Order: sequence, then C-alpha cells, then structure tokens
Amino acid sequence: MSALPYLKFAGPVLDEATIAGVAEVLRSGQLTSGPWVKKFEESLTAFCDGRPVRALTSATAAIEVALQLAGIGPGDEVITPAQSFFTVLNMIVKVGARPVFVDCGLVTRNLNLAEVERAITPRTKAIVPTHWPGSLVEMDALYALARRHRLRVIEDAALVMGSRWKGRRIGAFGDLVTFSFHPNKNLTTVEGGALVVNDDTEARRVEALRFHGITYLPDRTRDVDFPGGKFNLADVFARIGCAQLERLPAFLATRRALVDRYFERFATDPPCVLPPRPQGDDGQSWNMFSVLLPLPRLAITRRQFRDALESRGIGTGVSYEALHLSTLGRSFGYSEGRFPNTERIARETVTLPLHAGMTADDVDRVSATVADVLAAARR
Ligand SMILES: Cc1ncc(COP(=O)(O)O)c(C=O)c1O
Repeated sequence: MSALPYLKFAGPVLDEATIAGVAEVLRSGQLTSGPWVKKFEESLTAFCDGRPVRALTSATAAIEVALQLAGIGPGDEVITPAQSFFTVLNMIVKVGARPVFVDCGLVTRNLNLAEVERAITPRTKAIVPTHWPGSLVEMDALYALARRHRLRVIEDAALVMGSRWKGRRIGAFGDLVTFSFHPNKNLTTVEGGALVVNDDTEARRVEALRFHGITYLPDRTRDVDFPGGKFNLADVFARIGCAQLERLPAFLATRRALVDRYFERFATDPPCVLPPRPQGDDGQSWNMFSVLLPLPRLAITRRQFRDALESRGIGTGVSYEALHLSTLGRSFGYSEGRFPNTERIARETVTLPLHAGMTADDVDRVSATVADVLAAARR
C-alpha cells in the first residue's frame, strides 16, 4: 500500500460554513422544498441569464421530466450518443420512446452531427446530446439542424456546469438543458439536478411533473390529470447548492489549473490519447480528465492498469461504457462494430483524479504513477 493518502478520482469540496448552514436548515423544521429551493432556483435562473430553472432530485429526473415536457412517448424516436452515461438511454426507454444511437469524436467525445442528420426519420422527436468536459457540442450546428427538422433538444449538461459557448453559459440559451449536482460534478447538492426551460408555462408544467402531477384549484383543494412523479429537491440540499453555486467560479479555476498541470506533466510511453488541450480563455469547464490507454501496446488489461493505480492509492473511473452494447441497448438491435469511436473509448478509457480538492502535487503524483505503470507494461 502507498504511504501517501488515498486520492479519489472525484469528489466535492464542502466548507464549514455550508455544513453549519445545513444544520440551521435541519433545526428550522422546514426540511423539504421551501425557501432554500426558491432561492437556489432564483440563483440558477440568474446563472442562466434569466431563463427559468427548476431544481429536481437528480439529472436523471431532469432528463425524464424534460422528455415528458417535450411530449415524448411510445412511437417516438430520440437520437443520442452511444458514448454517454446510462441515464440517457434509461430515461428514453422509460418514457416509452426508442433510443437511436450515433457515434462520437474520438478526442472530443461529442456526438457526430452528420450522423444525427442521417439518423432522422419521420418518428424522430428529439436529440439528447451529452456535452463533454473540455469541448462542447457544436451548438450553432446542433440548433440549426434541430430547427431544420423541427426537433426538440434536451442538452445533457451534467458534466459542463459553468462552460461557455462563444461567451454564453451553457443553459443561458438553447432549448431544454439538464444539470447534475451529484457529488462528482462541478457543484453538488449531494444528490440533485436542474432543468432549464424556455418560459413560465413550461416551468409550471415541470412543477407538476416533479410533484405528483398536482395542480391547485381556487378552493385550495388539488387535482391531478396525469400521473406525475416525485422529484422535488429538499431545502437541506438546496442550502448546499446555494453555497456551492457561489464557489463555482473558484472550483472551476482550480479544476482548470489542475488540467493545465496534467497537460504539462502527462507524458507516457506508449502515449495515451488525451482530451482536447485547453486553449487560453476557451470557456471550457473540466469535470473529468479521461484518457485512452494504449492497450494494444500494453501487456496488461485496463482492469490491471486500474488495479495497479489503486494499489498505489490512486482511484480511477470508467466514463463511459458503450450504451448500445449494454443489454438494454442491444435489445434495440445494436451490436459490436456499429460505432467504432464509442466502442474504442468504452474499451480504453480511464478517468484519472480531478476535483477541486486536489493540488498540483497530486497531479504530478498521478502523472508519474501512470507513466511508471505504462512503461513497465510496454510490450
Ligand atoms: C453525462 C451524465 N449525464 C447524466 C448523469 C446523471 O446524473 P444524476 O446522477 O444527477 O442523475 C450523469 C451522472 O453521472 C452523467 O455522467
């Protein structure tokens, strides 16, 4: 075992003031959705240049509610990248629609828009792109395509809270946008998520979709006319979110400095495929630092590589498996060989430690350890 402290691959930074703030909420007796959720939503709305934002219990809930808001259900097709988290596939199937996958770029990992255009049929209702840290989906081309084919867009922005496209924040423009506040994301509420919508009518619909489908009648009784879910965020979590949102610029600056350091120090032989290199003030945020291992040139498997790092006190992750090759994905007729970049990423990717609680020394330690392990495993 390493003498150095264990380095997790992701995690939140929570300060004492936030912890004390949570204790106050707990003592207040107002635990579930109340004034802190309202304040959090107002702050998120300001963050998204005034577009209405509603807080939910997760990004998974936000994607499900967004699909329902867009009226997507049985008989509809939704186009989405095969290289993403299971959530997107699951929620498309859960609302009764058919997932239609496309491949992604090997380095940017963002979905291939030319393939999206070819995949459109009369049944296509929406595109759900996942933005990747370090590079966003080409927004101008995405929305031009969506307009041309009259499709809804649900941006999965779980990994890119705080990124900017041509100076404008993700969430501040576009159609429906979802964020995650899981502890591994750029800001956390423990579990939580948010959905950015276009207007107050959509926001009111989200309020019903996230809370049993309830509408309030003039006599202060309630009605439901569809089976809504139960996805409202609680004040305890929103209190954490308010504190985290204030610190987001500092978290992002730390993450960016750590990524710059990775690019300075990360040199392996055989070489790994690295994410897109940061360019000056490029507006990108960095939730993850994922590399592709040169597996064909190594005498070890990815599992053995990860175990070697783990035994030296360094945690790693896999982001992500190929959705079309999951058992659920295959049930829609997909098999190996369909999406070469997605499949190569799924085989070779490793997510290395990156979070706002790390130091430059931590990056140096990871970079040196990866270089050692790969050099020893060279064929
Ligand atoms: C790309 C992506 N989208 C969506 C999600 C779902 O987020 P949540 O855990 O808040 O439901 C995740 C979670 O890791 C993710 O990585």
